[in-house]
Amino acid sequence: PDSTTGYSYEECKATADWLIAQVPVRPLVGIVCGSGLGRLADVLKDQLVINYRDIPNFPQSTVHGHAGKLVFGTLKGKPCVCMQGRFHLYEGYPIQKTTMPIRVFKLMGVETVLLTNAAGGLNQDFNVGDIMVIKDHINIPGFAGNNPLVGLNDERYGVRFPCMSDAYDRGLQQLAHDVAAELDFSSFMQEGVYSALGGPSFETIAECKMLRFLGADAVGMSTVHEVIVARHCGMRVLALSLITNKSVLDYNSEKKANHEEVLQTGEMRAKQLEKLVSTVVSRIKTV
Ligand code: 6GU
Repeated sequence: PDSTTGYSYEECKATADWLIAQVPVRPLVGIVCGSGLGRLADVLKDQLVINYRDIPNFPQSTVHGHAGKLVFGTLKGKPCVCMQGRFHLYEGYPIQKTTMPIRVFKLMGVETVLLTNAAGGLNQDFNVGDIMVIKDHINIPGFAGNNPLVGLNDERYGVRFPCMSDAYDRGLQQLAHDVAAELDFSSFMQEGVYSALGGPSFETIAECKMLRFLGADAVGMSTVHEVIVARHCGMRVLALSLITNKSVLDYNSEKKANHEEVLQTGEMRAKQLEKLVSTVVSRIKTV
């Protein structure tokens, strides 16, 4: 099954080796930029930018708000790689292909992955512009068998049945909260459970009510598949959601979710998110 739906270990390795040959140092931290949050990559020094279309075997970005570039550089001397543009289930890729870059991160030497996304706020105490440290997830596509690890397991990455109860590194969550407090960001910091749907349609009111009832604080269309693959191959994970809009839970509301609002909120918080991510990354302990 792997040869038709995903990428073989050898293909990922070839991509990683090709990339390593282009850059002066191997990255230790991998960053994934969410919708409208691509400017995060701007904080990297001594940049080397490679378009996805020039990378052997790489999938291509198809969404407005996702650039489709890999940015290498350093943050306070720490070598990083940043995906400006990620891959979603709704783009039509088999789910095993959407997470290929995460395995390429691993094979380049990345130890820690920091993911960002734009998400709808199901928790009605959240405000637009809040940053939620993800402490757990609900993988809705996974309930129907749409998990990025479906197919033959390659033991070179990890075990057949990986544990997910420790998916989000507690130390990194604490670090994110500590850094946010130092930066005086506490008034818009939250923590909670992220639920992923396949998209691309936004949730109905009934679906939002269901997700809230299930314990989700935010809803989006990404991240979870990448976290599963990153944990499978033993990388540490920190994930942050920018709450770009409040989910509609009320039939009397006139509000409608839309992609422009998502991108606008991204712009509004871009600077602070950059500061938070760059400070966190500069303090991540590398092994
Ligand atoms: Cl409201 N829903 C989903 N599924 N993804 C989002 C979102 C909402 N807002 C930003 N991304």
